[in-house]
Amino acid sequence: MSKNVTGTAFVVAEFRAEENEETPPLYTDNLVKIWLNEETRKIANEIAHNSPAAKEMIKLRTKYFDDVLSNQILAGCKQVVILGSGLDTRAARMNGEGVNYWEIDDRTTLQLKESTLKANKVRANVRYIPGDYVQDGLIALLRQSEFDFEQPTYFLWEGNTTLLAKKDVIFVLEQIRDNVTSFKLSFDYMSEQVIARTTGYQDINDYIDKYESMYTPWITGFENIETLAKDLNLKTIDNFSTAELHQQYRPQRSLEFNLLKFYFVCTLEGIEA
Ligand SMILES: C[S@@+](CC[C@H](N)C(=O)[O-])C[C@H]1O[C@@H](n2cnc3c(N)ncnc32)[C@H](O)[C@@H]1O
Repeated sequence: MSKNVTGTAFVVAEFRAEENEETPPLYTDNLVKIWLNEETRKIANEIAHNSPAAKEMIKLRTKYFDDVLSNQILAGCKQVVILGSGLDTRAARMNGEGVNYWEIDDRTTLQLKESTLKANKVRANVRYIPGDYVQDGLIALLRQSEFDFEQPTYFLWEGNTTLLAKKDVIFVLEQIRDNVTSFKLSFDYMSEQVIARTTGYQDINDYIDKYESMYTPWITGFENIETLAKDLNLKTIDNFSTAELHQQYRPQRSLEFNLLKFYFVCTLEGIEA
């Protein structure tokens, strides 16, 4: 994991926080501001200036994942695992009765997270697992930490797949499928056309060039998530482009960015044997 990738969590947090100023906001995340400062604002502003779609992508996906998680909790799910959790605040914001969270990220990020939450007297029912869910293995990490593989579990994997090698994304999906009895899993992903620069939209190619020159490269996309799910013996519950989310959540606003047509969120489910 590079330091750069860890840095992305702060930019995401800045963009996520901005939605609080909307009337009405798509979601409310009043906690996220505890990690933000002049420096994070400056970097986020630079990225937003060059890559304005990024903000909207993050806000739309936050609303979608909040809704899926909240429905999971309402349906009685008591275990939530957040992979590459960065500065995700859901363990504190969405804390139903008896719901336990596990968060995996690198040690520095999780230490900063834990100490800032503590300093702000924010309580969250969460176990932090420092580590690399690819190198160390997600299952080995969960085994260290009172996770019950037999309990229905919701996995949230936000803002990660584009940054990983495809084989590592598949490895994570297989690890969950082969070890957790009953689960649902949500993640976001880019269309492979974006990575291959074959969308036919020059503005998208320019966007990635700028984003990558300032930040971290996007290396993996998927063309057809339903085929991938089928090949892995998983069931697709949802698969929406963020352009569709935009139409649903902000029907009064026109679509400004073509990239939203190629950036997706999905929820998959394990098929019980
Ligand atoms: C773009 S940030 C997204 C953070 C958060 N999920 C969100 O959407 O706000 C990506 C996060 O994933 C973490 N990450 C990426 N690859 C990882 C891996 N293999 N193991 C553990 N954490 C990882 C990074 O350290 C970083 O905090």
